Amino acid sequence: MSKKAASKKSKPAKKKSSKPASAAAAKPALTESRVFKPSAEFSKAARISSMAQYKKMYDESIKHPDKFFGREAKELSWQKPFTKVLEWKCPNAKWFLGGKLNVSENCLDRHLNGPRKTKAAIIWEGEPGEKRVLTYQQLHREVCRFANVLKRNGAKKGDRVIIYMPMIPEAAIAMLACARIGVMHSVVFGGFSAESIKDRVNDCQAKIVVTADGGYRRGAVVPLKKNVDDALQLGETTVKKVIVYKRTGQDVHIEEGRDVWWNRELEYVDANCPAVALDAEAPLFILYTSGSTGKPKGILHTTGGYLLHSYMTCKYVFDLRDEDVYWCTADVGWVTGHSYMVYGPLALGATSLMYEGAPNWPENDRFWRIIDEYKVSVFYTAPTAIRAFMKWGDHWLKKHDLTSLRLLGTVGEPINPEAWMWYHKLVGGGKCPIVDTWWQTETGGHMITPIPGATPTKPGTATLPFFGVDAAIVDDLGKEVGKDEQGKLVIRKPWPSMLRGIWGDKKRYQETYWSEFKGWYFAGDGARRDKDGYFWIIGRIDDVLNVAGHRLGTAEVESALVSHPAVAESAVVGRPDELKGQGVVCFVTVKEGVKTSRELGEELKKHVRTVIGPVATPDEIRFAAALPKTRSGKIMRRLLKQVAAGEIIKGDTTTLEDINVIAQLAASGDD
Ligand code: WT7
Repeated sequence: MSKKAASKKSKPAKKKSSKPASAAAAKPALTESRVFKPSAEFSKAARISSMAQYKKMYDESIKHPDKFFGREAKELSWQKPFTKVLEWKCPNAKWFLGGKLNVSENCLDRHLNGPRKTKAAIIWEGEPGEKRVLTYQQLHREVCRFANVLKRNGAKKGDRVIIYMPMIPEAAIAMLACARIGVMHSVVFGGFSAESIKDRVNDCQAKIVVTADGGYRRGAVVPLKKNVDDALQLGETTVKKVIVYKRTGQDVHIEEGRDVWWNRELEYVDANCPAVALDAEAPLFILYTSGSTGKPKGILHTTGGYLLHSYMTCKYVFDLRDEDVYWCTADVGWVTGHSYMVYGPLALGATSLMYEGAPNWPENDRFWRIIDEYKVSVFYTAPTAIRAFMKWGDHWLKKHDLTSLRLLGTVGEPINPEAWMWYHKLVGGGKCPIVDTWWQTETGGHMITPIPGATPTKPGTATLPFFGVDAAIVDDLGKEVGKDEQGKLVIRKPWPSMLRGIWGDKKRYQETYWSEFKGWYFAGDGARRDKDGYFWIIGRIDDVLNVAGHRLGTAEVESALVSHPAVAESAVVGRPDELKGQGVVCFVTVKEGVKTSRELGEELKKHVRTVIGPVATPDEIRFAAALPKTRSGKIMRRLLKQVAAGEIIKGDTTTLEDINVIAQLAASGDD
C-alpha cells in the first residue's frame, strides 16, 4: 500500500504518525494512545452497557463457571436438560452433561412459533447479481428436505459428509441438515484443490460429498464438481455418493450410481424431518486447519458448548438484534463462516447476509453497494480486506450510503492501527464501535474481544477476554510476564466451545495444545498486555503463516514443493506483506542436474497451487545452492525470514554449517 493511500483520510486525531501499513501489520503499535469509548447512545441500547457490568459478569464466569454458563445455556432449547455443567479432565472437557439438544432445532424450529417465522434468516446475493431471501420458515423446510435427501443417500448418525460448495444458501442448508440428523460435516473451502479434498475425505473417511457444478468468483466459474471428480480418482475412496447442486449450469461429468443431482433428489422426499436429540457432547463438525507439520489437523467441535459460545458471542459481542442486518464476509469454508455466518446468528434468530463472490467484482465497490442496498447494520470482515479497500481508494465508498452501519468487527490477524482508523472513520463514519475479535479454528468462537457497549477500544488491540476465558501471557516456564513484555498466549481454563480433539489423533491433540504448559491451552500466538491489561496479539510463533487471514503451514507448502521432481529440498517462510499480512517465500534447492530458471520458479508456484489450492500460491521462489542449517541439520528459519524480508542478517550465526550460504541466499531473488 502506498503511504498516501494509508494516511490521507485516516490521519489519527491526536497522533500524527502514519507508518505504511506493511510495517504496522507486522508489529502492532504498542504505544497506541488513542482511546475510543462507545457513544452514550450505543451503550444505553446495548446488552452490556458499562465496564462495571462486563467485569461483574466476567468475574462470575471465571469464579463460578457452573452458575454462569448454566444460566446462559438455559437460553438454548434442550430436548433433555443437562445435569452438570462441566467435567474437566485435562485435556478432555465435557460440557452440559446429560443434556440433549439439536443445533438445527436451535437455529430453526424454535424461531417458528413467533414473529421470526416470516423473518429473513438468510439474505443472499450471487456474484452475478441474483438475489434470494430465505425466511426462517423457508430455511427450515429446505433443511428438512435436504436432511431427508442425505438419509435417502445413506447418511447415518455419526457419519462424515464433506461439503465443498460455493457461497450459496445451500452450503448452510447442507450444514444444518447434517446437524439435524447427527451427521458430522466437514466443510472444505472452495479454493482448495482436488488433492486437498482427497486428503480431507481420506482423513475423516467421508461417505458423502455435497458439492455444486460450479460457483462464481471474480467473474469466472470455479469447477467444483470437476475438482471433486479428480479428488475421488486419486486412489481408493470411502465416498459412496456425491450430491451435486446445480448452480452454474455448466456441463459436468455424472458418475452413474455415485452422483445424484440435489434438485432431482428433492422430488423423492417430503419436508418432515425430526431433529434428533443429540448428546451435548455429540460431534457437530470437523474443520481442517493448518498446523506446524505437513498434515492439516481435523479440528473437532461438539454440540452444546459450541452452540452456546457462538450464540453468546453473537448476543454480547455483536449485540445482534432482531432488526439488524448482519453481514459476515467470511467464506463458509473457514470457522468464521461456521460460527458467525451460520450457527451463531441463526441460533439467535438474526438475519445473516451471505454474498457469493469477490469484493472487487464487477467493481471495487461491491461490498459498499451491498451494505447500502440491504442496509447492513453489523459488518464483520478481515484486516486484509480493509487494507485492500484502503488501497483501492476512498472514492469507492463515497458513492454509497453506509449510515445504516452501527457496529463493525474484524478477525483473522492483527489489525494495524492505520487500517483500524480508516475502518472507523470511513466505513463507520466515526460512530461505530469496532470489535477486534481474537480467536482460532480451535476455540470455536471469540476469545479476546471488546464488548461494544462497554470496552473502550484502542486501534490494534483485541482488548480483553470474553466470559469464561482465562487468558494469560507467560514465559517459557509458564510464569506470567510483566506489563508490555512479550510472551506466549495461553488459556488456563476450559471454555464451552473449545475443540474436543484432532480427528483420529489423540496424541497430536495432547502434544500440540496441552504439552507446552501442563493443564493450559497453548494457542501458538505471541502477545503482550499493556498497562490497562489489554491483549496485543503479535501473531503466530510456530511454523504457521497467516496469509490474508488464512492459516497456512510452512510444512504443507514445503511438502508440496518437494513433491515436484525438480526439487531436492525447500524451506518456506513468511515475510511481511502490505496487503496480506504475510507473503509466502520459498527457498528451494534443486536436484543434481536441474537448471534453475524463472520458468522453473513459475512452474513451482503453479505446482503448489495445484497441490494445495490458490490460497497457498507462493509469492516468491528463491533458488539456493544449499539451505542454512545448524550442525544438527535443522533449517535456520530465523535467518531465512530475515533474508526473505530483505533485512540484514542479525543474531548469532555461529551454529551455521556453511556461513557462505547466507550470502548466496541474500542475492538469489528470482528477478
Ligand atoms: C489465528 C487463527 C478466528 C477465525 C479466523 C482465523 C490469528 C485471528 C486475530 C485477531 C490478531 C488474530 C491468530 C490466530 N488471529 N484473529 N483479532 N488479532 N490475530 O482462524 O485460521 O484458526 O487462525 O489467526 O494468529 O492464532 P484460524
